Amino acid sequence: MLKIAPSILAADFANLERDIRRVAEADYLHVDVMDGLFVPNISLGIPVVQSIRAVTGMALDVHLMIDRPVRYVEAFCRAGADIVTVHVEADSRENTLRCLELVHSLGKRAGVVLKPGTPAQEALPFLARCDMVLVMTVEPGFGGQSFMEDMMPKVRQVRAWIEERGLDCELEVDGGIGPDTAPIAAAAGANVLVAGSAVYRAADIPGRIRELRG
Ligand code: DX5
Ligand code: ZN
Repeated sequence: MLKIAPSILAADFANLERDIRRVAEADYLHVDVMDGLFVPNISLGIPVVQSIRAVTGMALDVHLMIDRPVRYVEAFCRAGADIVTVHVEADSRENTLRCLELVHSLGKRAGVVLKPGTPAQEALPFLARCDMVLVMTVEPGFGGQSFMEDMMPKVRQVRAWIEERGLDCELEVDGGIGPDTAPIAAAAGANVLVAGSAVYRAADIPGRIRELRG
């Protein structure tokens, strides 16, 4: 079954606990961390992850949009992340491998993320060590952008590699997911859908989560 990961980037940060409870029936809570350097926006950091951890039992899917994440992955794990994903564009191959190793050494799940312009091949050196691959379907940095359907060949390619190799690896998409685009991403092979605006702008949030699950 499809898993839904609401992105708190679309929540009201002054009412974060309330907005986390509103998505309690989802599978993961997607936490977008931005440093104003890797992406042109700044969101939240380690103390906020710590505070979120204290108020929810949901699995925290922490998407690090930060430069040289190897510097911070341990801190995010210790703050309470359950899954930590890092961008392959953000560091050297060696350091990205080190990120996966550090996250695993702390008993958490690890993955890599591909920006729209990054080919599927860039995930290959990491695939066997990933619990998740995240294919961006918008340019990272902001919520509320339009779904890039032209990323579906990339999703299909990564899905094919996961199946061929028999890997226990989730395939997540992030950006522009809503009732119209969720089935397209699922048909291409994604099994985890991140949704920010589509969830938080809905009048009936639990209903929207069920709708996205299909
Ligand atoms: C974008 C973030 C996304 C964002 C998705 O950089 O990684 O997680 O919150 O927002 P929507 O679902 O509104 O496109
Ligand atoms: Zn994200």
